[in-house]
Amino acid sequence: MSNPFQFKNNRLFCEDVDIENFAKTVPTPFYLYSKSEIISNCQSVWDAAAGVDFQPCYALKANYNPTLLKIIRENGFGADIVSGGELFFAEKAGFPADSIVFAGVGKTDSEISMAIKAGIHSINIESAQEMYKVAELAGQLSRKQRIAIRVNPDIEAKTHEYISTGLHTNKFGVSTEEAYNLYLETKKFPQLIADSIHVHIGSQITEESPYLATADFLKSFINKLENQGISIKGLDLGGGIGINYSNALTDKNAPRTYINEILPHYIKAFGSLKVRMFVELGRAIIGSAGLLISKVLIRKETPLKKFMIVDAAMNNLIRPSLYQAKHEIVPVKNTQQKKIKADIVGPVCESGDFLAKNLEIEDLSAGEFIAVGGAGAYGQSQSTNYNLRPTIAEYLVDGSDIKCIFKGRSIQQIAENFEW
Ligand code: LLP
Repeated sequence: MSNPFQFKNNRLFCEDVDIENFAKTVPTPFYLYSKSEIISNCQSVWDAAAGVDFQPCYALKANYNPTLLKIIRENGFGADIVSGGELFFAEKAGFPADSIVFAGVGKTDSEISMAIKAGIHSINIESAQEMYKVAELAGQLSRKQRIAIRVNPDIEAKTHEYISTGLHTNKFGVSTEEAYNLYLETKKFPQLIADSIHVHIGSQITEESPYLATADFLKSFINKLENQGISIKGLDLGGGIGINYSNALTDKNAPRTYINEILPHYIKAFGSLKVRMFVELGRAIIGSAGLLISKVLIRKETPLKKFMIVDAAMNNLIRPSLYQAKHEIVPVKNTQQKKIKADIVGPVCESGDFLAKNLEIEDLSAGEFIAVGGAGAYGQSQSTNYNLRPTIAEYLVDGSDIKCIFKGRSIQQIAENFEW
């Protein structure tokens, strides 16, 4: 499948929906998702693991809209969660408990108990203290619980430092030495099924070398464990496969580049190892499927800069401000006007509030719309109500059909939870 976002007669479409025509009928800004793109991404992940005993999981943190979760579940994915809230959403969206994996450095007792009671596939252990706690709670509940120790391989993922997780300077997982000792210790806890390993080195990874290094690392570690009589049956390879941000909208084949080019090599690097493999992908499944649509409010110039002030801001999409992410941004109607260099900024009262800096874009006027590409992952899920801005709506396109899948959260609804 090619990119579902295409210009036809200079007008941007999502599948068969003309975005400008739709945007004129609803309040802006809003998120817009393509169903076919989500399905194609899921399918590419399955293709990457052809012939392998495989369970892909979807990382809810990327986007937890229930309608999107159901599409992903229907495509055979399990769920990767990091909180009790995500467990609640995963179960409510119908993910079978035995396809849910739970990582996170600071799980509370109640979250651990919830997970054990639900019968999830695996709790991924990030410290010795946590392993003892899981053993204690599983014992109290008279349940057996599978664990996977999250090993920190000390491998540089070659990504933004805030989303690199596999280095010893990061808070995630435990060192090989500690993991080894913990596996030996698990023999003392019959309520723990310690037959799995977890690794996750970071996010928005666009090179295969860190993954191949991780595979080499894991293979030799598994070998070491086997020599001690600890047999590993489940291998959770983590997530992190990147997407193409800079031409998310204009490259017809952009969306699945890294799933297709990196994931099969990562999986194959384990050779003939007889294990069930898991991945936990968020961005690669939903990132390319979402746009943020926003309206130009004001065109403003200082002696040094041109600004396009739009109605979406860092509270809706924080990635440019937080990770210097460069999302492709285009007008939804290409009128072939002359291009200018402008900062695309929102109404929030921070100079760090921008969607793009020095972007070459047509000189749009108030009332025209822009589309921000690659906004499906870590967009709405990282949004806030900063400056008392409402949470915006989400729509799903399926062919020529478009429906609201989240109404947003109005200021009135936010106000209701306060004591006045
Ligand atoms: N598994 C674990 C244990 C994780 O920590 C993460 C992401 C994933 C899977 C999914 O990673 P993905 O396949 O989506 O790269 N807000 C940042 C990304 C933070 C990622 C956090 N952990 C961003 O917008 O780039």
